[in-house]
Amino acid sequence: MNVEVLILGGTTEGYALAAALADHPRFTPVSSLAGRTASPRSPAGEVRIGGFGGPDGLEAWLRARPTIAAIIDSTHPFASRMGWNAATACAARALPLLRLERPAWRAVPGDLWDEVEDWEQAAALVSARSRRVLLALGRQELEPFARLDTIRFLIRSVERPEPMPAFAQAEILLARGPFGLEDERALLSSHEIDTIVCKNSGGTATESKLAAARELGVRVVMRRRPRRPDLPNVATVAEAVAWLETISPG
Ligand SMILES: NC(=O)c1ccc[n+]([C@@H]2O[C@H](COP(=O)([O-])OP(=O)(O)OC[C@H]3O[C@@H](n4cnc5c(N)ncnc54)[C@H](OP(=O)(O)O)[C@@H]3O)[C@@H](O)[C@H]2O)c1
Repeated sequence: MNVEVLILGGTTEGYALAAALADHPRFTPVSSLAGRTASPRSPAGEVRIGGFGGPDGLEAWLRARPTIAAIIDSTHPFASRMGWNAATACAARALPLLRLERPAWRAVPGDLWDEVEDWEQAAALVSARSRRVLLALGRQELEPFARLDTIRFLIRSVERPEPMPAFAQAEILLARGPFGLEDERALLSSHEIDTIVCKNSGGTATESKLAAARELGVRVVMRRRPRRPDLPNVATVAEAVAWLETISPG
């Protein structure tokens, strides 16, 4: 029997899982994207776009689509709400739910990390001891740093922040990862960066800045991931497919 799997996607892992299920003899992927990107990449198989309307909306959507037999939450590690909505709706519908998430980065010897819970804590640390700071975070997350007018910021962003908070000293660098170690080293050196502020996204595409920081003695203010529901959790697409095979043995 063919089994439909709802993938809460929009991430590298979500796209890879949709591709793997599209090639699988027993599973059919249905991907859901939040709809924040103007022209998102199309995942393999069926796709629906836009919020469901909270946990109740998701539950209603699942009731109307009884062929969905499991959900895999592969939203970004810093997408803080969707995982909770999915946990509530799946509990109500008695549907199995798995979290597919790339592992967090961990500090290794030589790293100068301070881990923080939010951007206010990050701004307080930066204010106390930094001069030249690379902000490698979402363009909607800049505001708490704009009031630090004695610090020079280099803001790396995929798209131009709109609206741009009123920084006293800031330069914008439009760039999309992956970033290589040599380029990251050159960037930190040429801008005389003493601190990087970023979030613990994990993965390889933006990891080089951490190795470059370690080499150059640059501090890292690392935002921890938000708390998630207590769920079965895997790190790879292969493990997610294996989990699906256990809940729906052929
Ligand atoms: N936050 C980040 O740093 C980050 C980075 C890269 C990519 N993303 C991706 O961007 C999307 C939105 O991020 P966010 O931080 O706003 O997430 P969020 O706080 O978890 O979600 C906010 C709302 O967006 C809707 N939503 C989120 N993911 C969805 C999905 N896959 N399908 C349908 N609706 C979805 C839900 O709306 P309803 O309540 O109406 O259902 C949810 O309540 C996520 O899919 C995430 O994977 C986020």
